[in-house]
Amino acid sequence: MRANVHSLAVFAVGVSAIVSEDGTGRLPAMGWASWNEYACDINETVFLRVGEVLVDLGLKDLGYEYVNIDDCWSDKMKRRDENGRIMPNATMFPRGIKGLTDDILAMGLKMGIHSDSGTGTCLKYEGSLYHEKVDAETFAEWGIDYLKYDNCNVPEEWEDDYPYWPDRPDLFVEPPPRYDYSISKNAIRYRRMRDPLLSLNRTIQFSMCIWGGAPVERWGNETGHSWRMYGDITPLWGGRDPTGWGVVAMLNQAAMHWNDTGFWGHNDWDMLEVGNGELTYEESRSHFALWATMKTPLIIGTRLEGIKDEILAILENKELIAFNQDTVYDDSVMPFNLDGPIPETTANITRTVSHYVGTSVAGIHVFLLNGDDEDGEMSIEFSEVPGLESSKTTTFIVHDMWTGEDFGLFTSSFTVDVKSHDTATLRFTTSCGRHPNPEWMPSQTQPDEILRKSAR
Ligand SMILES: *[C@@H]1O[C@H](CO)[C@@H](O)[C@H](O)[C@H]1NC(C)=O
Ligand SMILES: *[C@@H]1O[C@H](CO)[C@@H](O)[C@H](O)[C@H]1NC(C)=O
Ligand SMILES: *[C@@H]1O[C@H](CO)[C@@H](O)[C@H](O)[C@H]1NC(C)=O
Ligand SMILES: *[C@@H]1O[C@H](CO)[C@@H](O)[C@H](O)[C@H]1NC(C)=O
Ligand SMILES: *[C@@H]1O[C@H](CO)[C@@H](O)[C@H](O)[C@H]1NC(C)=O
Ligand SMILES: *[C@@H]1O[C@H](CO)[C@@H](O)[C@H](O)[C@H]1NC(C)=O
Repeated sequence: MRANVHSLAVFAVGVSAIVSEDGTGRLPAMGWASWNEYACDINETVFLRVGEVLVDLGLKDLGYEYVNIDDCWSDKMKRRDENGRIMPNATMFPRGIKGLTDDILAMGLKMGIHSDSGTGTCLKYEGSLYHEKVDAETFAEWGIDYLKYDNCNVPEEWEDDYPYWPDRPDLFVEPPPRYDYSISKNAIRYRRMRDPLLSLNRTIQFSMCIWGGAPVERWGNETGHSWRMYGDITPLWGGRDPTGWGVVAMLNQAAMHWNDTGFWGHNDWDMLEVGNGELTYEESRSHFALWATMKTPLIIGTRLEGIKDEILAILENKELIAFNQDTVYDDSVMPFNLDGPIPETTANITRTVSHYVGTSVAGIHVFLLNGDDEDGEMSIEFSEVPGLESSKTTTFIVHDMWTGEDFGLFTSSFTVDVKSHDTATLRFTTSCGRHPNPEWMPSQTQPDEILRKSAR
């Protein structure tokens, strides 16, 4: 048991966030979740093995701490007991969720669970609407540390008057001028779970799976620790399939919303598909590098037993994890050098942003994504990179975050070979290895400076 004081802390200029004494939610969450690999084929053994493997492979020591049960864990027939408590499926979880959780916590890990802000989950298992208090208390008694709160089976009377879903422009209804989405029914439904969670004697990370609805980034910080920004991900590069959106669609949307994330509140671009489906090795690398540097929660979604060494190496990249978990700089990477506006996700989902810049305690970082179907060279002029251009030097040590080796010392520009759909992960320090520009953060940039200055 941990004693925790958490509060809805109000900061300067009315910005508020859920702040816990133990730091829960200050940095993006890291862990593993069952959905992407197992869907409903889950049981106690799956999670116990995942816990053991997280420890054995060293992933726990790198920060992957949550073991998250996704949809389908409850009893679809009996649903609730005589005290109104959700009943776990006794075939899947013969010792209840508590029995499993005790073992997971004993491994030094944390346990996550899934519920829904409607009357049923997406697979029509019991939801938490109208049962928020008893469910929050039940999860706390079971020892749960993380709640993924989904958005399916919402009754008609709880639908927004002015719907906004980023991947469903067809459903959009224009709100009145200066409409405040924090009074939308979506926001109210998520606050109905936030409040009982905050009154618990246990800190439960609140992960809002709201698909970017009712522009959640405008009120998410005062409601949860992270908020899904789009529809579901699927293990494809470009395009989409009936279950979700490929990585490129997510990246384009993320590039537009890079400035909506910070300490205590994170954009969530969905669980990792690294190692899954049709993603190539290079595509898995780009997916991980950009999720990490966009400060999205890093929730592994692949089978860990028998995982390929090259895929494990991606998930274990210490430098990318350190960027994601930086305790000093909370900005996401920012797109730069754009030739034009970021492509609308639903308009053309094969083209994506190639240049990103960010900062961490280790230096200034540039990420170059080769979105072409051919391998090629990518170059940057240091005078075009906001964090480098405003530093006091033009000569930098350029370091490769994939290999952990330096490329060497470069003045004015740098060129690197990047395979199709791979991402070069570069760190810049001064010639004596210092941070070249500790005062600079992407959010200081003026919005119009992100576009390429064609005069240069
Ligand atoms: C909360 O948990 C702490 C630590 O276990 C315990 O000392 C305290 O009595 C609990 N408070 C309530 C109200 O249950
Ligand atoms: C538990 O689930 C896994 C993965 O779906 C399956 O391989 C295994 O047979 C199941 N075990 C039991 C006891 O049902
Ligand atoms: C419980 O889980 C088992 C094994 O996955 C499944 O066959 C059964 O339909 C589930 N029962 C209920 C009531 O949800
Ligand atoms: C959330 O609030 C915290 C604390 O005020 C702040 O540091 C952070 O930037 C906010 N995040 C967002 C996305 O607004
Ligand atoms: C989408 O972008 C690709 C790459 O730039 C281009 O080849 C294609 O013609 C575009 N498709 C549409 C429908 O605009
Ligand atoms: C990012 O957000 C901050 C705080 O709202 C704002 O001052 C800044 O102009 C934004 N930067 C860009 C490039 O949009």
